[in-house]
Amino acid sequence: MLGLTGASGAPYAARVLEALVEAGAAIGVVASRAGRQVVALECYGDRAMDPDGALERFVADHGGSDVRVYAESDYSAPYASGSAHTDAVIVCPCSMASVGSIAAGIESNLIHRAAAVQLKEGRRLVVVPRETPVSEIHLENLLRLKRAGAAVVPAMPGFYHLPESIADMVDFVASRILSAAGVDLRLIPSWGAR
Ligand SMILES: Cc1cc2nc3c(=O)[nH]c(=O)nc-3n(C[C@H](O)[C@H](O)[C@H](O)COP(=O)(O)O)c2cc1C
Repeated sequence: MLGLTGASGAPYAARVLEALVEAGAAIGVVASRAGRQVVALECYGDRAMDPDGALERFVADHGGSDVRVYAESDYSAPYASGSAHTDAVIVCPCSMASVGSIAAGIESNLIHRAAAVQLKEGRRLVVVPRETPVSEIHLENLLRLKRAGAAVVPAMPGFYHLPESIADMVDFVASRILSAAGVDLRLIPSWGAR
């Protein structure tokens, strides 16, 4: 499952979704309202775009017809229960509000519930925070998630792969996310392979 929340970084989610489809994964997408707003702005340059329409277009552009979209209030989705054995939940981008909710065990939308399910079941949860600078509260919440079993993969592109475009920088982060989710798909050359 790919969850999008209202932090900057929708292009990372777009790339991750494309790669998951390429890897043949069965994917469900859930986006918070703020997440849909960020998609409208960062993927389509339109702050005034209808957030639901933005998500629909995002999934059509980067996922395709096999990707299922779930409402953030849809607790009948498989991700809401440990019995469904979801391989990985990726929250990308992950706002500090969602980091705090997940760290506090507040399961008030499907994204937070799905994250909590992965932690209680000992399955993969990948959280991709994006905020700077960070407060002590942000750091404590991230530490809590890490200690509870999540992989914390900050949206921090490196430069040692010599990016020539924004797409190359996006690929750097997307590559780390996929690796943490257990998806073996190389978007950039491994260190030492060049
Ligand atoms: C365009 C835009 C960019 C934002 N960027 C960030 C960000 O990078 N990190 C963050 O923690 N919050 C960011 N926010 C604030 C969150 O969207 C806000 O805290 C929201 O309540 C998060 O809710 P959610 O976690 O349910 O999506 C941004 C909001 C907007 C509208």
